[in-house]
Amino acid sequence: GTPQNFYEAVGGEETFRRIVGRFYAEVAKDEVLRPLYPEEDLGPAEERLRLFLIQYWGGPHTYSDQRGHPRLRMRHAPFTIGPIERDAWLRCMRIAVDEERLPEPERTQLWEYLEMAANSLLNTWV
Ligand code: HEM
Repeated sequence: GTPQNFYEAVGGEETFRRIVGRFYAEVAKDEVLRPLYPEEDLGPAEERLRLFLIQYWGGPHTYSDQRGHPRLRMRHAPFTIGPIERDAWLRCMRIAVDEERLPEPERTQLWEYLEMAANSLLNTWV
């Protein structure tokens, strides 16, 4: 049927699965980001980000069913996130979003949100 929200308009779960999967393939190779992830297996972190983004954009609320309120600033407090980490995160995410070849205006809408969210999680300014 007719898409009811952003999540449906961009293709639902499969689209977020591809974007976040591609993002973590980049994180795995990134010398700034990889050491921040406490677990050897990036799979669980990949699932959490995928479920969060699905929920944020209007899909199922599985993230909060499993994790509660997102509280992203609090959940990122254990990690040093300065401009270098933010830029590395956005570099990986840019590759993932670009490869998805989303239509406009959805592509720009997604990217502007991700930049805003990454900036909101800065907790170190050196
Ligand atoms: C978790 C790093 C930005 C959403 C994490 C974790 C790290 C991390 C190390 C722990 C991995 C895990 O889940 O076990 C970073 C860095 C960022 C960044 C360096 C750079 C600015 C973002 C942004 C979002 C986001 C912009 C959302 C748009 C999440 C979510 C989790 C998470 C949903 C899992 C929270 C939970 O339920 O525990 N991040 N992150 N992160 N991040 Fe980020």
